[in-house]
Amino acid sequence: MSLLNEIEPLKQAALAELKSAADLAALDQAKGAYVGPNGKFTALMKQLGTLSKEERPAAGKLINQAKVELETALAERRSELELKAALPKEPTDFTLPGRRRPLGKLHPLTQVTEDIIRSFRKIGFVVADGPEIEDEYHCFDALNTPADHPARDLQDTFYLNTTDKQLLRTHTSSVQIRVMKKQQPPVRIIVPGRVYRRDNADATHNPTFHQIEGLYVDKNVTVGDLKGTVEFVFRELLGKDTKIRFRPHYFSYTEPSFEIDFQNALVKKLGKDWLEIAGCGMVHPQVFENVNYDPEVWTGWAFGFGIERIAMIRYGINDIRLFYENDVRFLRQF
Ligand code: DAH
Repeated sequence: MSLLNEIEPLKQAALAELKSAADLAALDQAKGAYVGPNGKFTALMKQLGTLSKEERPAAGKLINQAKVELETALAERRSELELKAALPKEPTDFTLPGRRRPLGKLHPLTQVTEDIIRSFRKIGFVVADGPEIEDEYHCFDALNTPADHPARDLQDTFYLNTTDKQLLRTHTSSVQIRVMKKQQPPVRIIVPGRVYRRDNADATHNPTFHQIEGLYVDKNVTVGDLKGTVEFVFRELLGKDTKIRFRPHYFSYTEPSFEIDFQNALVKKLGKDWLEIAGCGMVHPQVFENVNYDPEVWTGWAFGFGIERIAMIRYGINDIRLFYENDVRFLRQF
């Protein structure tokens, strides 16, 4: 009778220990303590023989049921603990960046171009576009550039082998004409784009480079507007300490025309006082005539400058060819 009464409490004790085993070693220990060869449960089973014939079947049945329960509990706890052992010890931070290779970056010229566009957007300019394969009319004639102008010389310009005098545009100024032919004033555009000239590549020249053109047409536009705009943009691009000055110059599509110099800490670092950076002027009345704008009503200014030059000054790059070699050791620095 006493044996029968021992089964249930021993089973409960064994179940409690198996289920609470903290790791696989503790589980094995609990298993040994109850159902191993020297376990308490095994000892109980060995005592079955000491029972009377009447008691034995009931006790045997209870012990067998208990054994099944203990084995099930043991197996369940074992798979739980094995899973736990397989998981990382530290909690996983799913917000950490993955182990992928670094993503690509924008080319420094693209970055500078986007900066320039961003500055002009703040003051109401939109980006316009035109073809790189141009004709003489848009590139020269409509811009009041006479047929004997050196820019039109075969030595200076890439002409295509076609009958209608097509060429790779020598400047983005051609887009001024295309835009004005298409839309009525007011006009407020900037034109980033690639241009081509017959130049040998050296540290400061390349047969193809990039320009930004600007054009503003409205009523009562003045040189003061031009200067204020240029000053605002160059200060954003090259630093708040940037000063600019206008020098008289000649362009056939503007009158008066100027070259723009600037001065700041970057220029001082190069051991210079002023650095030439852009060309500009008030749109020539003949250009307005060419696009059917009334020069008595409309006034405007235009400018153009090189993007590579801005990038070289800004980043202290001394060889323009680095921009086109696409050496990742160079590109990764921006
Ligand atoms: N097209 C000139 C160049 O390539 C730059 C330029 C000068 C553009 C004066 C202009 C301008 O719009 O008004 O050197």
